[in-house]
Amino acid sequence: MSSSAGGMRAMHRRAFLAATAGLAVGGVPARAQSPACRVEVLAAEPIGRIAPEIYGHFVEHLGAVVYDGIWVGVDSRIPNVQGIRKQLIEALKPIKPSVVRWPGGCFADQYDWRDGVGDPARRPVRTNFWVDAREWPKGANRMGAETYDPNTFGTVEFVRFCRAVGAEPYLAANLRSLPAQEFWRWVEYCNSPAGSTTLARQRAADGEAAPLNVRYWGVGNESWGCGGNFTPEDYASEFRRFSAWAPSYGVPLALIGSGPNSDDRNWTRRFFEKAGGPGIGKLWGWGAHHYSWNVSGGRTRDWFEGKGDAAQFNSEEYYELLRDAIRMENLITSQWGVMAESDPRHRVKLAIDEWGSWHKSGTEPFPEALLGQQNTLRDAVLAGLTFDIFHRHADKVAMANIAQLVNCLQSLCFAHEDKFALTPTYHVFAMYAAHQGGESLRTEVSAPSVSYTRNGEAAHLSRLSASSSRKGNVLTVTLNHLHMTEAAAVEVLLRGVAARSVSAEVLAGPNAQAHNSFAAPETVKPVAGRCELRAGVLACLLPPHSVTRLEVQLG
Ligand code: AHR
Repeated sequence: MSSSAGGMRAMHRRAFLAATAGLAVGGVPARAQSPACRVEVLAAEPIGRIAPEIYGHFVEHLGAVVYDGIWVGVDSRIPNVQGIRKQLIEALKPIKPSVVRWPGGCFADQYDWRDGVGDPARRPVRTNFWVDAREWPKGANRMGAETYDPNTFGTVEFVRFCRAVGAEPYLAANLRSLPAQEFWRWVEYCNSPAGSTTLARQRAADGEAAPLNVRYWGVGNESWGCGGNFTPEDYASEFRRFSAWAPSYGVPLALIGSGPNSDDRNWTRRFFEKAGGPGIGKLWGWGAHHYSWNVSGGRTRDWFEGKGDAAQFNSEEYYELLRDAIRMENLITSQWGVMAESDPRHRVKLAIDEWGSWHKSGTEPFPEALLGQQNTLRDAVLAGLTFDIFHRHADKVAMANIAQLVNCLQSLCFAHEDKFALTPTYHVFAMYAAHQGGESLRTEVSAPSVSYTRNGEAAHLSRLSASSSRKGNVLTVTLNHLHMTEAAAVEVLLRGVAARSVSAEVLAGPNAQAHNSFAAPETVKPVAGRCELRAGVLACLLPPHSVTRLEVQLG
């Protein structure tokens, strides 16, 4: 719903609350009203430009992400562009996917880039890193491309996918099981001038004579774990060896180091101490990973056991998952502080190159989708509040990549054979796309916290998350309402600018468990929201467990 100042009847705040009480919002009946909440946008306090790269993605050869999800093959009856699923390309273009990371993940440190070049019919078939994963669903075909990789999706196929959706490629190099020489040769294959080297000629034979100009390169992945079980000092030495003399072919390489598991300060401090000074060299981004899973009920953060169900959850599990996601804020500030000890001018930025929810197995959209999981409004709120955190730290976070794009973890889409569906998380990316490249503005929230029960004891969580950005005369404000059952009346006050009109879009549903599937792909989708401009104040009504975007035209 949109309204303009001129056309609006002045309405007292109490009258607004009375008028909105009990009204349906985004198709959802507004049940009990929460106390009023307030958001202040401080236009005179810019934080920094929101890097479009924080709206990045991650694609790993894991389950059905690549084969079936992205790659259907040039001879497929499924509509495709050079073998890439056409429906996926069309879905991604409007959300402006800035950067895509590939080929892993853990897979990257077992991947030999040479397997994915040359005549696709002659490429070797290799055992996938995830062959022995405990999470394989019963009934999955364990003899397909998900397990024995035919390498038909290699470097040029990936770069063409990026080109088709308008994204920059981000290649993760193998530091655990290939020598540094192969990293430099992969750079050479991608970036050396046309006709200059044997590898440039190989690239031309693969259909790409001009350099691919790949700028973003990961030097290992989770080097504290599946990427080699290194100590931080050993990884720092490896990083230096791989990176210091890497050729660039005129492309300003942006190297991303394998950063901490969540907020592991010890890993970061020891890496920077060892690799510090001139040794940091081409390090552009520090790649932290943070997954959110249920840690309630006394469960530990065990890789396999300590997770909850993706679609069936109670209020404790709902709030506890969001609490785990909110830890991102502390991760950013504390890692930033540790990095400053060795890099006081902050030449190196944070690249949160894996983030999202991770639920236990059992809700895969089809059996080959290893680590596939349902995606509800709870995941949508998690995505929205995470972006709000990134915006608040736009001066620190230069890139972020949700895990993973399709059929895996907090995916944006499900794709199988000729079936395709968008998840609630996709819609958050679409609603938030307007923030990309905007100037993030300080946004203050004042709202009563939500109370719930954790392990039989009272616990509290923020009720509301918000962020805002400005591009010229357009202000984008996003609001995530975390309360699981109550609606909230929210006043948004603009300081230092005046609104001329506002329109609102909301992602909501009858309950937090609402989700989309192949059979019902449009259960959750954005609709017009309720927000009115009244005496310079934006008066909005937010449904429970919802994500709202306001587009404000400034006077
Ligand atoms: O995204 C799935 C896996 O999670 C990645 O391969 C790894 O980097 C992380 O532990």
